[in-house]
Amino acid sequence: MKKRVGILTSGGDCPGLNATIRGVAKALYQRMGGDVEIVGISNGYDGLIKGEWRVMQQDEFSGILTRGGTILGTKRTPFKLMKVVGEDKVDKVAAMKQNYKKMELDCLLCLGGNGTHKTANLLSEEGLNIIGLPKTIDNDIYGTDVTFGFHTAVDIATEVIDRIHTTASSHRRCMVIEIMGNKAGWLTLYSGIAGGADIILIPELPYDIQKVCKAIQKRSEQGKPFSILAVAEGAYDVEEAKLKKKERAAARAAAGETTATNRIARQIEAMTGFETRVCVPGHMQRGGSPSAYDRVLATQFGVYAAKLVEEGVYGVAVAMKNGVVGHNPLPEIAGKSKLVPEDCEMLSVARRMGISLG
Ligand code: F6P
Repeated sequence: MKKRVGILTSGGDCPGLNATIRGVAKALYQRMGGDVEIVGISNGYDGLIKGEWRVMQQDEFSGILTRGGTILGTKRTPFKLMKVVGEDKVDKVAAMKQNYKKMELDCLLCLGGNGTHKTANLLSEEGLNIIGLPKTIDNDIYGTDVTFGFHTAVDIATEVIDRIHTTASSHRRCMVIEIMGNKAGWLTLYSGIAGGADIILIPELPYDIQKVCKAIQKRSEQGKPFSILAVAEGAYDVEEAKLKKKERAAARAAAGETTATNRIARQIEAMTGFETRVCVPGHMQRGGSPSAYDRVLATQFGVYAAKLVEEGVYGVAVAMKNGVVGHNPLPEIAGKSKLVPEDCEMLSVARRMGISLG
């Protein structure tokens, strides 16, 4: 019997979404031929709520391996609002279930990050056949060694740090580079190590600005009159660590800032005398073609998801576990994040290299 497979991409985009969609589709057509029909849902859960979808043709999955972004479009539809009926009076969960039925789906593949997996789990609890696939440049999805999009972003952020290095050295300046990652410091840690940053500040380890400035002074005394700081956008200092999350955000807003990077630059100038500049590569870290690593990972994940569809295994999320592709039950991973743990090997690598973690 013909299977109808729905697919959507939700949350922030990242390189590798299209490669994953292609992996799923090619593997499904390869194994099931004319017995499968793929339904593309536009703009993530928003499209599922509004009923924006189309039956896709086989040739739409060709030529997209290297393309950044997502051919389906994406949108952030916060999980915490899923059960809230807004001014439009739409019951979002009921609408998603109705549209799933209208589309006559046998299952739905949800490509996304933590928020996406929370809603995927909710839909699974509501009786829909769901498979999650882990994407995010933040690499913070619980239960998987790695997410697609992460390594491409590491490559991009590393190139930024490399380019900043030469100008920092020429001008004998400190350069503060703001790397994406609000809660998780994986991207900053990996690109910081890959780019040879002197100081790496991540949200999991609140920093002490005195220690940061000491590290800069020490380098200067060693004849190194410039320093590179890789700072996660979600980094905060030991004083802010005493505040609740909301208080911290309010204090930042009152100071007219959202991230710590400009403040860090001002403090470095005041405390060390080093001229300091800030660089914010921002969404560039999520743009463009996926790296070879991510193309392979996305294809592996896509092919595995196609196998799950074929076997009728639902209520799960695809994952890489100790280097082997497998899956986790959605309830076991939804609502949890994978942050950089204190005993992370990469932290000890950084410390042993003399990199200051603030
Ligand atoms: O989750 C990916 C991410 O790029 C985070 O690193 C960042 O904090 C956030 O998305 C930015 O979101 P937006 O694209 O909505 O500005």
